[in-house]
Amino acid sequence: MTTQRIYQLPVEITNWKFDGKTEMNFNWEYEDGSAELLNLYEKGKQQQWDATTRIDWSQELDPENPMGMSDESIPIYGSPFWEKMTEKEKQWLRWNLQCHTICQFMHGEQGALIATAKIVNTVPDMNAKFYGATQVMDEARHVESYKRLIHEKFKMAYPITEPLKNLLEQTLTDSRWDMTYLGMQVLIEGLALAAFQRIRDQAKNNLAGSVNAYVMQDEARHVTFGRMALREYYPHLSDHERAQREEFCVEGLYFMRDRFNQGEVWMRSGLPVDKLMEYAFNSGVMQAFRVRLFTRIVPILKEIGLFGPKVQKALQDMGVIEYANIDVNKLIDNDLKVAEDFDKKRFVQQAIAAE
Ligand SMILES: [Fe+2]
Ligand SMILES: [Fe+2]
Repeated sequence: MTTQRIYQLPVEITNWKFDGKTEMNFNWEYEDGSAELLNLYEKGKQQQWDATTRIDWSQELDPENPMGMSDESIPIYGSPFWEKMTEKEKQWLRWNLQCHTICQFMHGEQGALIATAKIVNTVPDMNAKFYGATQVMDEARHVESYKRLIHEKFKMAYPITEPLKNLLEQTLTDSRWDMTYLGMQVLIEGLALAAFQRIRDQAKNNLAGSVNAYVMQDEARHVTFGRMALREYYPHLSDHERAQREEFCVEGLYFMRDRFNQGEVWMRSGLPVDKLMEYAFNSGVMQAFRVRLFTRIVPILKEIGLFGPKVQKALQDMGVIEYANIDVNKLIDNDLKVAEDFDKKRFVQQAIAAE
């Protein structure tokens, strides 16, 4: 079944194109690359996995609440709109909101696939190209995993949202290699990690939980890749060049904070869209979620040295400056551990089934 047939809103062009302004970068020095990145490449090779065998695709979603998320996480929960809804309408809303979220993961992962391929083309260091190649494979596997969740389980799809599309285009139309890293490995992936984590840790459905846990295990390496490359490179920038990067981050952060909503679902709900959007934007759930989105991004901005007065002021204004003190390595260690826990759980279930 083509995706075109399951989109809930029209997608006129399925073939989105724009000028990526790439400067191809060959390197004839094969030996003298970063040793840290070579290590990461070794890890990237060893930690490959197969979405077909590692994930138990025989598990189904719950028709009443596909991924088993709590109703409190719905932005209009408890509102007069919610109270008036019948149980059937609530089921429709749960299914569509959760499907909308996973679709954005799927489209975003395609963005990561394309961005990482671009990094392989543009980054000067040979070992960064090596590592980037393993990440290209990781990102393909992520698109594959979310695609299966959408096609085989949700059986419906939503198009990419305008803000995500915008952010991808901004990231991918810059010819400077570090801007692809900054936009994709720091901002978009940082945002995605917080969103994946919400489902990994809260979903009662094991299929949804495991897909997100395994994707996050790979993302831990991807974040490390961005940190390594940029913290080496950014101290060498001129003040003017650094200011440009900081500006890009501040704009991106505000944009992400203010523009992400699930308007496409509200539009189809038959309820007054403007009122729902307003209620959802101001709801406690969304306020908390918007803050949480930055837990992964803020400490990395500090680490790579994009932490000038302008950035700090913006973070203060958003109420997320204290995240600068988060220990990223601890978060990453936990991401690896949680993925292993999902493996163990499956192993135990199989053993019980065999008995
Ligand atoms: Fe990914
Ligand atoms: Fe990634």
